[in-house]
Amino acid sequence: PLVSMNEFLPRAKKEGFAVGQFNINNLEYVQAITAAGKEENSPLIFGASEGAIRYMGLDNMVALSKVAAKESGLPIALHLDHGSSFEVVMQCIRAGFSSVMFDGSHYPLEENIRLTKKVVEAAHAVGVSVEGELGTIGGVEDDLDVAEEDASLANPKDAIRFWEETQVDAMAIAVGTAHGMYKGVPKIRYEIIEEVSKKIDAPIVLHGGSGVPDESIQKAISLGVGKINVNTENQVESTKVIRELLDQNPNIIDTRKFMGPARDIIKEVVKGKIRLFGSANKA
Ligand code: G3H
Ligand code: ZN
Repeated sequence: PLVSMNEFLPRAKKEGFAVGQFNINNLEYVQAITAAGKEENSPLIFGASEGAIRYMGLDNMVALSKVAAKESGLPIALHLDHGSSFEVVMQCIRAGFSSVMFDGSHYPLEENIRLTKKVVEAAHAVGVSVEGELGTIGGVEDDLDVAEEDASLANPKDAIRFWEETQVDAMAIAVGTAHGMYKGVPKIRYEIIEEVSKKIDAPIVLHGGSGVPDESIQKAISLGVGKINVNTENQVESTKVIRELLDQNPNIIDTRKFMGPARDIIKEVVKGKIRLFGSANKA
């Protein structure tokens, strides 16, 4: 069965590793991520954005995730990514999600706390873990599009208060990473991670994990990051494989001939992240 993130996140924070949230966008993503987790014996978080839910269908998403958890025997959480409302959160929980993010980061602090608390109360009542967010992460991901000048770092004092009042299981704070591709190297504000992590029980979540240098990831984990979200790198690498294959073999007409290799590369990307995050052999 699918599990809550509380099956592995408390241990991640204590032992100093991070569990990857890998977004699922179709069947091949589910298979590739699961195979990577199996080979590395790692816990997994399947990230489901609202855009991906619209694309795959809510019930398909849950069904595929349940099969993956059953066949692999791994602790897998199916987690709503950037949930935009109480209604969407409840629809996902009812459909079988084991974890949800409520992203109230665009609301004023008081309102974000109020709405997140409501989600936590409902989700915890049925054993579903919750991630909250403070500060706005720049870049583009599905329905979210935040211009660089509108991205704002999380204020540590607000973040600590947010956690104390909401009791979320994972705390996403904007610390300088962005969704999508980076133009240069992201400037991560490690002191924010450190200050907040020391004062709260929940691990910090790093969104925008694609394209962040390995050393930066390792440093962030050492300071209290326990969950890292990756989507763009899988998208970019799999599309590159498909584009090259079709360019070089214009006669290909069998979908499996390019979706299979795309799946293989996603598995390799995810295996690399699992090792980097230190979650190998922690299942
Ligand atoms: O919520 C999903 C992640 O934050 C995706 O980040 O675009 O850097 O892969 P990414
Ligand atoms: Zn994100």
